[in-house]
Amino acid sequence: MCGIIGYIGKQEAAPLLFNGLKRLEYRGYDSAGIATLDSGLHIKKEVGRIDDIHSKLNLTDIPGTLGIAHTRWATHGGVTKTNAHPHVDCNGNIAVVHNGIIENYQELRNSLDSSNHQFKSETDTEIISHLIEDTMKKGYNFEDATISALKSLEGSYAVMVMNKDERKLIAARKGSPLVLGVANDGYFGASDIPAFLEHTKDVVYMHDFDVAVMSDEGLKILNILDNKQVDRKIDTIEWDIAQAEKGEFQHFMLKEISEQVDTVQMAVQQDKKIIDDVVNDIKNAHGIFFIGSGTSYNACLAASYIFSKINKMHINVVLASEFPNYGHFLTPKTLVIAVSQSGETADVLDAVKSAKERGCKVISIVNVIGSSLTRTSDSFISLNAGPEICVLATKSYTSQLALFTLLSYALTGSYDEGKAKLTYLWNVIYQLTSATMRNKIKELAEKLKGKNNLFLIGRGLQYTTALEAALKIKEVSYIHAEAFAGGELKHGTIALIEKGTPCIVFVSSENEKQIISNAIEIKSRGGYIIGVSPRNNEVFDFWIKAPEANSENPIVQIIPIQILAYQLAVLRGLDPDRPRNLAKSVTVN
Ligand code: AGP
Ligand code: GLU
Repeated sequence: MCGIIGYIGKQEAAPLLFNGLKRLEYRGYDSAGIATLDSGLHIKKEVGRIDDIHSKLNLTDIPGTLGIAHTRWATHGGVTKTNAHPHVDCNGNIAVVHNGIIENYQELRNSLDSSNHQFKSETDTEIISHLIEDTMKKGYNFEDATISALKSLEGSYAVMVMNKDERKLIAARKGSPLVLGVANDGYFGASDIPAFLEHTKDVVYMHDFDVAVMSDEGLKILNILDNKQVDRKIDTIEWDIAQAEKGEFQHFMLKEISEQVDTVQMAVQQDKKIIDDVVNDIKNAHGIFFIGSGTSYNACLAASYIFSKINKMHINVVLASEFPNYGHFLTPKTLVIAVSQSGETADVLDAVKSAKERGCKVISIVNVIGSSLTRTSDSFISLNAGPEICVLATKSYTSQLALFTLLSYALTGSYDEGKAKLTYLWNVIYQLTSATMRNKIKELAEKLKGKNNLFLIGRGLQYTTALEAALKIKEVSYIHAEAFAGGELKHGTIALIEKGTPCIVFVSSENEKQIISNAIEIKSRGGYIIGVSPRNNEVFDFWIKAPEANSENPIVQIIPIQILAYQLAVLRGLDPDRPRNLAKSVTVN
């Protein structure tokens, strides 16, 4: 959620910042603003979508080669122009943009109120600019005053700060994402790399408690935990801005669904030593937890069925937000595998922190390198899926599954067999994402687009697919979709089945008879049965052919439903890339 970007260099800042905000839109927001500095501080901000604000205020028409900008996802204070960022101090000299939550802002604000500071907004963020002002009044320079202010903050922040009287850009992070871009003619700071990638591929991943000071003289970074200057290496990004753009697709969601032909393969192209090390950690562990949120949790659940089926191993699968309830089971012999596409999900980061406090080994499976999770884990495996811009997780899910499946096969000493099976999926995924299949699924979407409720059932691995499929449909089409284990629907919810109630049935040869009988139970009560199955069946009113893939069924069978969810959203006049109320990375608890 939310996005921040800052620039100091030789170019006019406003156009760069505006384009950067556009590339951060996918993160979800409700308002936006820009501040630039030349002889004075200029600020424009408003509620609404960036393009609408630009039409109203012309966001690129403010002077200065130094600036900061923000898309806000409100946590403290309503969605109003006054609460939009940037925020300033009493005299309008210090401007700040912030992603995160200042947990002790009320006590800080009370203290500043008593010093007669005048606040304009209801946000927690605004106190940062007043803290800096207050400290500078005591004789500190801008840089030291900013550091002092940051040290007094509890909670999470990614901030960028400017001072009207000094040509410096200060960036800092703790618990929220922030990465620097080193360009030929200046420096960027942003929540995510696509915001400045068209200007430079050289990036510096900031660590928590890092403070970066950028000026025409250069860049310096210190870590305020020990107040020492640190030397963070410059990485060169291998993917290009085209990968972070839609290309010939109308939406990122369909682009990223289509990319799965390649991204499942990329997930499997791992340094074998990394896989072997994780396999050893699994073998040596006494108690294993897979943790995640949302789709990443669903991947963990599917993985636990795979590890049970292939490795006869019991895995504890726990929602990251529920992990605190399992603290008493954790020992230094426990292995925690944390799964997160963004690597910034607050629930996952908190769970990992508590696991580390108990001495557990933590391995993470992440897509965004340099994210908080990659730096707080003992080790990590990269999904290699490239940027996932759409709020919905699609390619990252099948990459997570592919990686878990590879680990499972490697654990039994069948790494090559597992890799071959996953490589073979290329053909299957190619067919499932083809125009022919998309057109067939569109027929189904036309039939379902007016529905308000939809059920999904599966048994075994197919049950986990039903859960993920339900989430996809809900979060992008706003149709209430609910998943059940095949045997469970008749324990109550079958009471909701009426004539025409749609139910998607995931079929695999391993439990075909049982799940088909569950489908018949629904059909006999008027249900409309959609079969995702290797073979057709007379109980199906609509059949989507998904070749049998056994342990790889979760990868294969989710793809038609990702496409269905996308098409339902489009047919219902919704924006699949920016579903309401959602954000790409939930960086608050
Ligand atoms: C998935 O489509 C959702 N957008 C959401 O459930 C997401 O999977 C969840 O917030 C976890 O995100 P992460 O993988 O980045 O941790
Ligand atoms: N907590 C700040 C606010 O509510 C920042 C929220 C965000 O991350 O956008 O304005």
